[in-house]
Amino acid sequence: MSKIRNIGVLTGGGDAPGLNAVIRAVVKTAKLYGLGVVGFLNGFGGLIKNQVRELSERDVAGILPRGGTILGTTNRDNPFSYPIIKDGKKVYVDVSDRIFENISIQEVDALIIIGGDGSLAIGRDLHDKGLPVVCVPKTIDNDLWATEQTFGFDSAMATATDAIDKLHTTAESHHRVMVLEVMGRYAGWIALTSGIAGGADVILIPEIPYQIESIVKKINERSRQDKQFSIIVVAEGAKPLGGEMVVQKRIEDSFEPIRLGGIGNVLGEQLEEVTGKETRVTVLGHLQRGGSPTPYDRILATRYGTGAVKLIVDGRFGEMVCLTGPTISSAPLREAAGKIRQVPLDSDLIYSARMLGISMGD
Ligand code: F6P
Repeated sequence: MSKIRNIGVLTGGGDAPGLNAVIRAVVKTAKLYGLGVVGFLNGFGGLIKNQVRELSERDVAGILPRGGTILGTTNRDNPFSYPIIKDGKKVYVDVSDRIFENISIQEVDALIIIGGDGSLAIGRDLHDKGLPVVCVPKTIDNDLWATEQTFGFDSAMATATDAIDKLHTTAESHHRVMVLEVMGRYAGWIALTSGIAGGADVILIPEIPYQIESIVKKINERSRQDKQFSIIVVAEGAKPLGGEMVVQKRIEDSFEPIRLGGIGNVLGEQLEEVTGKETRVTVLGHLQRGGSPTPYDRILATRYGTGAVKLIVDGRFGEMVCLTGPTISSAPLREAAGKIRQVPLDSDLIYSARMLGISMGD
Protein backbone atom coordinates (compact mmCIF):
# COMPACT_ATOMS: atom_id res chain seq x y z
CA MET A 1 0.00 0.00 0.00
CA SER A 2 2.75 2.46 0.91
CA LYS A 3 4.21 2.13 -2.61
CA ILE A 4 1.05 3.28 -4.41
CA ARG A 5 1.03 6.97 -5.32
CA ASN A 6 -1.29 7.18 -8.29
CA ILE A 7 -3.81 4.86 -9.89
CA GLY A 8 -4.22 4.83 -13.67
CA VAL A 9 -7.62 4.13 -15.15
CA LEU A 10 -8.79 3.43 -18.69
CA THR A 11 -11.96 2.37 -20.47
CA GLY A 12 -11.51 -0.20 -23.27
CA GLY A 13 -13.74 -1.79 -25.93
CA GLY A 14 -17.30 -0.77 -26.77
CA ASP A 15 -18.83 1.74 -24.39
CA ALA A 16 -21.64 0.89 -21.99
CA PRO A 17 -23.86 2.99 -19.72
CA GLY A 18 -22.17 3.24 -16.32
CA LEU A 19 -18.54 3.77 -17.40
CA ASN A 20 -18.55 7.29 -15.98
CA ALA A 21 -20.07 6.04 -12.75
CA VAL A 22 -17.11 3.65 -12.33
CA ILE A 23 -14.59 6.42 -13.05
CA ARG A 24 -16.30 8.70 -10.53
CA ALA A 25 -16.29 6.00 -7.85
CA VAL A 26 -12.59 5.25 -8.49
CA VAL A 27 -11.62 8.92 -8.15
CA LYS A 28 -13.65 9.52 -5.00
CA THR A 29 -12.50 6.32 -3.29
CA ALA A 30 -8.86 6.88 -4.25
CA LYS A 31 -8.98 10.35 -2.76
CA LEU A 32 -10.06 8.96 0.60
CA TYR A 33 -7.03 6.67 0.50
CA GLY A 34 -4.80 9.64 -0.39
CA LEU A 35 -4.15 8.39 -3.94
CA GLY A 36 -4.18 10.42 -7.16
CA VAL A 37 -5.88 9.20 -10.35
CA VAL A 38 -4.63 9.56 -13.90
CA GLY A 39 -6.99 8.73 -16.77
CA PHE A 40 -5.47 7.20 -19.93
CA LEU A 41 -7.38 8.36 -23.00
CA ASN A 42 -9.07 6.26 -25.67
CA GLY A 43 -8.52 2.80 -24.26
CA PHE A 44 -5.12 1.13 -24.61
CA GLY A 45 -4.19 3.78 -27.21
CA GLY A 46 -3.64 6.31 -24.40
CA LEU A 47 -1.42 3.87 -22.51
CA ILE A 48 0.68 3.21 -25.59
CA LYS A 49 0.92 6.86 -26.66
CA ASN A 50 1.08 8.34 -23.16
CA GLN A 51 -2.10 10.38 -23.60
CA VAL A 52 -3.55 11.22 -20.21
CA ARG A 53 -5.66 13.55 -18.18
CA GLU A 54 -5.54 13.94 -14.46
CA LEU A 55 -8.77 13.12 -12.74
CA SER A 56 -9.66 15.19 -9.71
CA GLU A 57 -12.97 15.19 -7.85
CA ARG A 58 -13.89 18.30 -9.80
CA ASP A 59 -13.42 16.39 -13.09
CA VAL A 60 -15.91 13.71 -12.10
CA ALA A 61 -18.57 16.02 -10.70
CA GLY A 62 -21.89 15.54 -12.49
CA ILE A 63 -20.85 12.52 -14.58
CA LEU A 64 -22.79 9.84 -12.64
CA PRO A 65 -25.90 9.93 -14.89
CA ARG A 66 -23.95 10.51 -18.12
CA GLY A 67 -23.67 7.75 -20.73
CA GLY A 68 -20.43 7.12 -22.63
CA THR A 69 -17.01 7.64 -21.08
CA ILE A 70 -15.22 10.92 -20.38
CA LEU A 71 -11.95 9.10 -21.15
CA GLY A 72 -12.94 7.93 -24.63
CA THR A 73 -12.60 4.31 -25.75
CA THR A 74 -11.79 2.09 -28.71
CA ASN A 75 -11.76 -1.61 -29.44
CA ARG A 76 -8.50 -1.27 -31.35
CA ASP A 77 -4.92 -0.70 -30.07
CA ASN A 78 -4.05 -4.10 -28.61
CA PRO A 79 -0.53 -3.47 -27.20
CA PHE A 80 0.50 -7.09 -27.87
CA SER A 81 -0.55 -6.90 -31.51
CA TYR A 82 -0.28 -3.28 -32.56
CA PRO A 83 -0.44 -2.34 -36.25
CA ILE A 84 2.47 -0.39 -37.73
CA ILE A 85 3.53 0.25 -41.30
CA LYS A 86 6.88 -1.36 -42.11
CA ASP A 87 8.37 -1.28 -45.62
CA GLY A 88 4.99 -0.09 -46.91
CA LYS A 89 3.15 -3.03 -45.35
CA LYS A 90 0.99 -3.27 -42.26
CA VAL A 91 2.53 -5.55 -39.65
CA TYR A 92 1.58 -6.27 -36.04
CA VAL A 93 4.13 -5.83 -33.27
CA ASP A 94 4.30 -6.08 -29.48
CA VAL A 95 4.52 -2.54 -28.06
CA SER A 96 3.64 -3.48 -24.48
CA ASP A 97 7.04 -2.27 -23.18
CA ARG A 98 5.93 1.28 -23.97
CA ILE A 99 3.16 0.91 -21.40
CA PHE A 100 5.70 0.23 -18.65
CA GLU A 101 7.64 3.36 -19.68
CA ASN A 102 4.49 5.50 -19.75
CA ILE A 103 3.09 4.45 -16.41
CA SER A 104 6.50 5.14 -14.91
CA ILE A 105 6.51 8.64 -16.50
CA GLN A 106 3.05 9.23 -15.02
CA GLU A 107 4.14 7.87 -11.61
CA VAL A 108 1.27 5.39 -11.81
CA ASP A 109 1.74 2.34 -9.58
CA ALA A 110 -1.46 0.42 -10.35
CA LEU A 111 -3.85 0.30 -13.28
CA ILE A 112 -7.63 -0.19 -13.39
CA ILE A 113 -8.89 -1.50 -16.73
CA ILE A 114 -12.64 -1.15 -17.24
CA GLY A 115 -13.55 -3.40 -20.15
CA GLY A 116 -15.09 -6.44 -21.77
CA ASP A 117 -13.51 -9.75 -22.74
CA GLY A 118 -10.91 -8.28 -25.14
CA SER A 119 -9.73 -5.73 -22.55
CA LEU A 120 -9.72 -8.31 -19.76
CA ALA A 121 -7.46 -10.60 -21.81
CA ILE A 122 -5.05 -7.72 -22.39
CA GLY A 123 -5.25 -6.88 -18.67
CA ARG A 124 -4.38 -10.49 -17.81
CA ASP A 125 -1.40 -10.48 -20.18
CA LEU A 126 -0.13 -7.13 -18.87
CA HIS A 127 -0.42 -8.44 -15.33
CA ASP A 128 1.45 -11.62 -16.30
CA LYS A 129 4.17 -9.33 -17.68
CA GLY A 130 4.48 -7.59 -14.32
CA LEU A 131 2.02 -4.69 -14.41
CA PRO A 132 -0.11 -4.28 -11.27
CA VAL A 133 -3.56 -4.49 -12.86
CA VAL A 134 -7.13 -4.89 -11.60
CA CYS A 135 -10.16 -5.06 -13.90
CA VAL A 136 -13.82 -4.05 -13.85
CA PRO A 137 -16.27 -6.09 -15.99
CA LYS A 138 -18.16 -3.95 -18.48
CA THR A 139 -20.45 -4.84 -21.37
CA ILE A 140 -24.08 -4.49 -22.34
CA ASP A 141 -23.88 -8.15 -23.48
CA ASN A 142 -23.59 -9.52 -19.90
CA ASP A 143 -21.43 -12.32 -21.30
CA LEU A 144 -18.37 -12.19 -19.04
CA TRP A 145 -17.26 -15.18 -17.08
CA ALA A 146 -16.96 -15.07 -13.27
CA THR A 147 -19.50 -12.34 -12.64
CA GLU A 148 -23.25 -12.69 -12.44
CA GLN A 149 -23.77 -9.31 -14.01
CA THR A 150 -21.77 -6.73 -15.91
CA PHE A 151 -22.68 -3.07 -15.62
CA GLY A 152 -24.33 -1.65 -18.74
CA PHE A 153 -26.52 -4.71 -19.21
CA ASP A 154 -29.43 -3.44 -17.14
CA SER A 155 -29.55 -0.19 -19.13
CA ALA A 156 -29.44 -2.02 -22.48
CA MET A 157 -32.19 -4.35 -21.27
CA ALA A 158 -34.31 -1.33 -20.29
CA THR A 159 -33.81 0.28 -23.72
CA ALA A 160 -34.75 -2.96 -25.49
CA THR A 161 -37.82 -3.42 -23.27
CA ASP A 162 -38.95 0.11 -24.02
CA ALA A 163 -38.58 -0.63 -27.74
CA ILE A 164 -40.71 -3.79 -27.41
CA ASP A 165 -43.42 -1.83 -25.55
CA LYS A 166 -43.49 0.71 -28.37
CA LEU A 167 -43.54 -1.96 -31.09
CA HIS A 168 -46.48 -3.64 -29.37
CA THR A 169 -48.86 -0.73 -29.87
CA THR A 170 -48.07 -0.23 -33.55
CA ALA A 171 -48.03 -4.01 -34.20
CA GLU A 172 -51.50 -4.32 -32.70
CA SER A 173 -52.88 -1.40 -34.71
CA HIS A 174 -51.60 -2.74 -38.04
CA HIS A 175 -51.98 -6.49 -37.34
CA ARG A 176 -48.34 -6.97 -38.20
CA VAL A 177 -45.46 -9.20 -37.28
CA MET A 178 -42.74 -7.07 -35.72
CA VAL A 179 -39.16 -8.33 -35.54
CA LEU A 180 -36.78 -6.58 -33.16
CA GLU A 181 -33.06 -7.35 -33.52
CA VAL A 182 -31.03 -6.66 -30.40
CA MET A 183 -27.30 -6.84 -29.63
CA GLY A 184 -25.51 -9.32 -27.39
CA ARG A 185 -22.90 -10.99 -29.62
CA TYR A 186 -22.79 -14.72 -28.89
CA ALA A 187 -25.05 -14.55 -25.82
CA GLY A 188 -28.81 -14.09 -25.63
CA TRP A 189 -29.08 -12.20 -22.34
CA ILE A 190 -30.44 -8.94 -23.78
CA ALA A 191 -32.93 -10.70 -26.07
CA LEU A 192 -34.14 -13.14 -23.42
CA THR A 193 -34.60 -10.68 -20.56
CA SER A 194 -36.08 -7.83 -22.60
CA GLY A 195 -38.29 -10.32 -24.43
CA ILE A 196 -39.71 -11.59 -21.15
CA ALA A 197 -40.03 -8.06 -19.72
CA GLY A 198 -41.73 -6.80 -22.89
CA GLY A 199 -44.06 -9.78 -23.33
CA ALA A 200 -42.62 -11.00 -26.65
CA ASP A 201 -44.23 -13.96 -28.39
CA VAL A 202 -41.03 -15.43 -29.80
CA ILE A 203 -37.46 -15.01 -28.47
CA LEU A 204 -34.52 -16.27 -30.49
CA ILE A 205 -31.12 -16.54 -28.84
CA PRO A 206 -27.74 -17.89 -30.02
CA GLU A 207 -27.84 -20.66 -27.43
CA ILE A 208 -30.98 -22.25 -28.98
CA PRO A 209 -30.87 -22.64 -32.79
CA TYR A 210 -34.29 -21.87 -34.25
CA GLN A 211 -36.50 -23.51 -36.87
CA ILE A 212 -38.59 -21.22 -39.03
CA GLU A 213 -41.52 -23.70 -38.82
CA SER A 214 -41.70 -23.24 -35.02
CA ILE A 215 -41.92 -19.46 -35.36
CA VAL A 216 -44.59 -19.72 -38.07
CA LYS A 217 -46.52 -22.17 -35.89
CA LYS A 218 -46.55 -19.64 -33.04
CA ILE A 219 -47.70 -16.78 -35.31
CA ASN A 220 -50.49 -18.93 -36.78
CA GLU A 221 -51.55 -20.17 -33.36
CA ARG A 222 -51.94 -16.54 -32.25
CA SER A 223 -53.97 -15.76 -35.38
CA ARG A 224 -56.36 -18.60 -34.54
CA GLN A 225 -56.78 -17.03 -31.09
CA ASP A 226 -57.65 -13.77 -32.86
CA LYS A 227 -54.32 -12.18 -31.96
CA GLN A 228 -53.39 -10.79 -35.34
CA PHE A 229 -49.98 -9.43 -34.40
CA SER A 230 -46.80 -10.99 -33.05
CA ILE A 231 -43.61 -9.66 -31.52
CA ILE A 232 -40.37 -11.48 -32.22
CA VAL A 233 -37.16 -10.54 -30.41
CA VAL A 234 -34.06 -11.90 -32.10
CA ALA A 235 -30.53 -11.68 -30.75
CA GLU A 236 -27.96 -10.62 -33.36
CA GLY A 237 -26.18 -13.95 -32.78
CA ALA A 238 -29.24 -16.17 -33.30
CA LYS A 239 -28.94 -18.80 -36.02
CA PRO A 240 -31.18 -21.40 -37.66
CA LEU A 241 -30.69 -25.06 -36.82
CA GLY A 242 -27.84 -26.26 -39.00
CA GLY A 243 -27.17 -22.69 -40.22
CA GLU A 244 -24.76 -19.87 -39.46
CA MET A 245 -24.88 -16.52 -37.68
CA VAL A 246 -25.19 -13.47 -39.94
CA VAL A 247 -21.93 -11.50 -40.03
CA GLN A 248 -22.40 -7.83 -40.86
CA LYS A 249 -18.73 -6.95 -41.28
CA ARG A 250 -15.18 -7.62 -40.19
CA ILE A 251 -13.11 -4.89 -38.59
CA GLU A 252 -9.40 -5.55 -38.85
CA ASP A 253 -7.32 -4.36 -35.84
CA SER A 254 -10.30 -4.75 -33.50
CA PHE A 255 -9.84 -7.03 -30.44
CA GLU A 256 -12.85 -8.95 -31.80
CA PRO A 257 -13.03 -8.39 -35.59
CA ILE A 258 -16.43 -9.97 -36.30
CA ARG A 259 -19.51 -7.73 -36.13
CA LEU A 260 -22.79 -9.63 -36.13
CA GLY A 261 -26.02 -8.16 -37.48
CA GLY A 262 -28.64 -8.68 -40.17
CA ILE A 263 -30.51 -11.72 -38.87
CA GLY A 264 -33.61 -9.55 -38.22
CA ASN A 265 -34.01 -8.70 -41.90
CA VAL A 266 -33.30 -12.25 -43.05
CA LEU A 267 -35.97 -13.53 -40.69
CA GLY A 268 -38.47 -10.76 -41.47
CA GLU A 269 -38.38 -11.55 -45.20
CA GLN A 270 -38.80 -15.27 -44.61
CA LEU A 271 -41.71 -14.80 -42.21
CA GLU A 272 -43.55 -12.39 -44.51
CA GLU A 273 -43.23 -14.87 -47.36
CA VAL A 274 -44.33 -17.92 -45.39
CA THR A 275 -47.11 -16.39 -43.26
CA GLY A 276 -48.37 -13.81 -45.74
CA LYS A 277 -48.53 -11.35 -42.85
CA GLU A 278 -47.11 -7.89 -43.19
CA THR A 279 -43.79 -7.89 -41.35
CA ARG A 280 -41.56 -5.03 -40.25
CA VAL A 281 -38.04 -5.18 -38.85
CA THR A 282 -36.39 -2.86 -36.33
CA VAL A 283 -32.67 -3.10 -35.64
CA LEU A 284 -32.12 -1.42 -32.28
CA GLY A 285 -28.34 -1.09 -32.74
CA HIS A 286 -26.27 1.35 -30.74
CA LEU A 287 -29.27 2.90 -29.01
CA GLN A 288 -28.67 0.03 -26.57
CA ARG A 289 -25.25 1.40 -25.73
CA GLY A 290 -26.19 5.03 -25.28
CA GLY A 291 -27.98 7.19 -22.78
CA SER A 292 -28.08 7.47 -19.05
CA PRO A 293 -27.43 4.33 -16.97
CA THR A 294 -30.36 2.91 -15.03
CA PRO A 295 -30.26 3.29 -11.22
CA TYR A 296 -29.24 -0.39 -10.99
CA ASP A 297 -26.28 0.16 -13.31
CA ARG A 298 -25.23 3.33 -11.50
CA ILE A 299 -25.15 1.40 -8.24
CA LEU A 300 -23.39 -1.67 -9.69
CA ALA A 301 -20.82 0.52 -11.47
CA THR A 302 -20.21 2.48 -8.26
CA ARG A 303 -19.73 -0.73 -6.27
CA TYR A 304 -17.32 -2.03 -8.90
CA GLY A 305 -15.34 1.23 -8.87
CA THR A 306 -14.98 1.31 -5.09
CA GLY A 307 -14.26 -2.45 -5.11
CA ALA A 308 -11.48 -2.05 -7.68
CA VAL A 309 -9.68 0.58 -5.57
CA LYS A 310 -10.03 -1.67 -2.52
CA LEU A 311 -8.36 -4.52 -4.46
CA ILE A 312 -5.44 -2.19 -5.21
CA VAL A 313 -5.19 -0.99 -1.61
CA ASP A 314 -5.17 -4.64 -0.49
CA GLY A 315 -2.46 -5.47 -3.06
CA ARG A 316 -4.71 -7.96 -4.86
CA PHE A 317 -3.46 -7.46 -8.41
CA GLY A 318 -4.40 -9.67 -11.33
CA GLU A 319 -8.00 -9.80 -10.16
CA MET A 320 -11.36 -8.59 -11.46
CA VAL A 321 -14.21 -7.34 -9.32
CA CYS A 322 -17.33 -9.50 -9.71
CA LEU A 323 -20.88 -9.76 -8.53
CA THR A 324 -21.49 -13.01 -6.65
CA GLY A 325 -25.06 -13.21 -5.37
CA PRO A 326 -25.64 -9.99 -3.44
CA THR A 327 -21.92 -9.37 -2.82
CA ILE A 328 -19.05 -7.70 -4.66
CA SER A 329 -16.20 -10.20 -4.72
CA SER A 330 -13.27 -10.82 -7.05
CA ALA A 331 -11.86 -13.50 -9.31
CA PRO A 332 -8.37 -14.05 -10.76
CA LEU A 333 -8.04 -12.66 -14.28
CA ARG A 334 -6.47 -15.96 -15.32
CA GLU A 335 -9.84 -17.60 -14.68
CA ALA A 336 -12.12 -14.75 -15.69
CA ALA A 337 -10.55 -13.52 -18.95
CA GLY A 338 -10.89 -15.25 -22.29
CA LYS A 339 -14.15 -17.08 -21.56
CA ILE A 340 -17.65 -15.94 -22.36
CA ARG A 341 -20.79 -16.73 -20.40
CA GLN A 342 -23.80 -17.68 -22.48
CA VAL A 343 -27.31 -18.24 -21.18
CA PRO A 344 -27.30 -21.76 -19.64
CA LEU A 345 -29.85 -24.01 -21.30
CA ASP A 346 -31.21 -24.96 -17.87
CA SER A 347 -31.62 -21.29 -16.89
CA ASP A 348 -34.86 -20.56 -15.05
CA LEU A 349 -35.25 -17.57 -17.38
CA ILE A 350 -35.70 -19.96 -20.31
CA TYR A 351 -38.02 -22.11 -18.22
CA SER A 352 -40.15 -19.08 -17.26
CA ALA A 353 -40.31 -17.92 -20.87
CA ARG A 354 -41.55 -21.32 -21.99
CA MET A 355 -44.09 -21.50 -19.15
CA LEU A 356 -45.54 -18.19 -20.36
CA GLY A 357 -46.03 -19.68 -23.81
CA ILE A 358 -43.15 -17.79 -25.39
CA SER A 359 -41.67 -19.74 -28.29
CA MET A 360 -37.90 -20.09 -28.18
CA GLY A 361 -37.98 -21.07 -31.84
CA ASP A 362 -36.95 -24.70 -31.28
O1 F6P B 1 -20.05 -5.88 -27.08
C1 F6P B 1 -20.95 -4.82 -27.14
C2 F6P B 1 -21.54 -4.69 -28.51
O2 F6P B 1 -22.47 -3.62 -28.51
C3 F6P B 1 -22.18 -5.96 -29.08
O3 F6P B 1 -23.45 -6.22 -28.53
C4 F6P B 1 -22.18 -5.65 -30.55
O4 F6P B 1 -22.16 -6.84 -31.29
C5 F6P B 1 -20.89 -4.90 -30.74
O5 F6P B 1 -20.53 -4.38 -29.47
C6 F6P B 1 -20.97 -3.75 -31.72
O6 F6P B 1 -19.70 -3.22 -31.87
P1 F6P B 1 -19.39 -1.84 -32.60
O7 F6P B 1 -19.68 -0.74 -31.63
O8 F6P B 1 -17.96 -1.94 -32.95
O9 F6P B 1 -20.29 -1.75 -33.79
